[in-house]
Amino acid sequence: MKFSILLFSLTSLSACLALSLSHAGEDSVGLTNDSVLETYPTKLQEWMDAKFGLFIHWGPSSVAGVEIGWARASHPFDHPGKLELIPDAEYDALYKQFNPVDFDADALVRTAKAAGMKYLVFTAKHHDGFSNWATELSDYNIMNTPYGRDICRELADAVHKHGLKLGWYYSTRDWSHPDYLVGDNSAYNDYYHGQIRELLTNYGPVDVLWFDHVAGKWSDYRFEELFEMIYDLQPEILVNNRAAKFVMRHQAGTPPPELLELTKGDFETPEGKIGKFQVDYPWETCMPMSKGPDGHGGWSYRPEAITASFEECVKMLAACVTGGGNMLLNIGPMPSGNVRPEELENLKSLEAWMETYGESIHGTRAGPYISGQWGGACHKGDVVYLHVFEWVDGQLSLPALQRKVLGCEALGGESVSFTQTADTLTLRLRESKIRSLRSTVKQAERSLHRVIKLTLEPGEPMALIPVEGHVAKKQHDSLVNPMGE
Ligand code: GLC
Repeated sequence: MKFSILLFSLTSLSACLALSLSHAGEDSVGLTNDSVLETYPTKLQEWMDAKFGLFIHWGPSSVAGVEIGWARASHPFDHPGKLELIPDAEYDALYKQFNPVDFDADALVRTAKAAGMKYLVFTAKHHDGFSNWATELSDYNIMNTPYGRDICRELADAVHKHGLKLGWYYSTRDWSHPDYLVGDNSAYNDYYHGQIRELLTNYGPVDVLWFDHVAGKWSDYRFEELFEMIYDLQPEILVNNRAAKFVMRHQAGTPPPELLELTKGDFETPEGKIGKFQVDYPWETCMPMSKGPDGHGGWSYRPEAITASFEECVKMLAACVTGGGNMLLNIGPMPSGNVRPEELENLKSLEAWMETYGESIHGTRAGPYISGQWGGACHKGDVVYLHVFEWVDGQLSLPALQRKVLGCEALGGESVSFTQTADTLTLRLRESKIRSLRSTVKQAERSLHRVIKLTLEPGEPMALIPVEGHVAKKQHDSLVNPMGE
C-alpha cells in the first residue's frame, strides 16, 4: 500500500504539461455527487451556465448624480434611508432634464457580451416610480423626457440581437405613485400588474423578472394573480426571490405558506456581498461596481463613487462562481448616456481576461472543493478549475481528490507542478514566479489570483471536500431589511 502511494506520488510529480485534453464530457454536472441542481429545469441550468450578467441602474437621478430612488426625500412606507438629499418635487422633476443623447444600447450590449456577460438586467422602474419605457399607464416615463426614446426597447432589441438574455428589474415599491399602499392597495395592484404585463408583452422574450423587496402586508397584494399572468405571458421566465420580500412587516402571525412558496423565487439574491458556498439552491450576488464613498448605495451614477479595480471584479466573479452562484455586476450610466469611464475600462479589461479564463467561469458548477479564503473550485466534465487567491511561498496544499490528476496547467500560460498523494494535492508555482510574487507587496496582491486547470481521470462522482477550517455555511440572503428588522 505504502509502495503504491509512493509510486503514485512519484509518477504524478510532473511539471505541468499543457495538456490539451478534450473534456471527457461537455456537461457541467456529474463530477460531484451531491448537487440537487442536476435536477433543475433547463431554463435554470442555462441561467447557471451563464454565470455573469450586467446590472444597469439608470434613470433621471443620474442628472443630479444622486442615488436612484433613495435620494428622494420621502420614502412612503419605508425607513427614511441614509441618502436623502433632494426634496420630492425637485427629484420628481429631474426627468424633465433627462436627455442621454450619447446612449448607445447596441454598443453597451456588445461591450457586455465581450466581457463575458450572458445576460443583462435593467431598472425598468426603480423605487422612485419613473418608468424607463413607453408605459401607457403613467406619464412619469421616458417618453416625456427630452430624450423621448424607449430605453427598454433599445436595450431589449440589442440584447436579443446579440444573443444575450434579458431581465427587467421592477420595483414594486413606488414612492411617487398616489395609489401605492392606499386603502386595500387594489388600484396600485392594477397599476403594477399592468406595467408588468407591458414589460412581458411588448419586448419579446424576457428571461428574468428581478423584483425588489416591498412594504405592506400579504393582503395588500394579489400575488396568485400576478404570478399566473407572469407565467402565462413568459412561461420560461425566472423570477428572483424579492417579489414579496419583507411583506411580513405589517402583519402579525404566520405568512400564508402557499404565498411564501409562490413568491420564494427561482434564485436567491445576496446583495453587495459574495454569497456563501451553496450548491442546493441557485443564487446570484448583485454587486455595484462603484460604491458611494460612505459605503452606501452606488447603484446609480454618483460622481463621487469609487469604482472597484479590475482585479477585484475578477476575484468577486471567481468567488461567486466557485461558491455556486452567479454575479450580476452593476454599472450606473452617466446622464449623457455614456458608461462611467472607470466602469467601462473594467468591462473592456474583462474582454481580454475572458479569452483566457472564460472556460473556468461559464458552464461550470461549484466544487468539488468547498471555497474559502484560499479560493475555490468549479468543474466542467472531468476538468476542475481552481481559482486560487492565497499561495504560501508559491504553494498550495489541498485535501486529496479521489481521482487521479492527469494534467495540470495554469491558465494564462504560467507553469505549475503538482504532487498527488493519498491525502494531499499540492500545487507549486514555478520558482521564478514565486520570486516575483515576493518582490513587491503591491505586485503580489495584483497577481496572486491564479486559475489552475486540473484534468482528472474519468470516474465516479465525488463528494464535496471541505478545506482546512472552511466550513460550508448555509446560504442566507444577506440583504438587510431596510425597515431594520
Ligand atoms: C436595494 C436597494 C436598491 C437597489 C437594489 C439592488 O434593494 O434598495 O436601490 O436597486 O438593492 O439589489
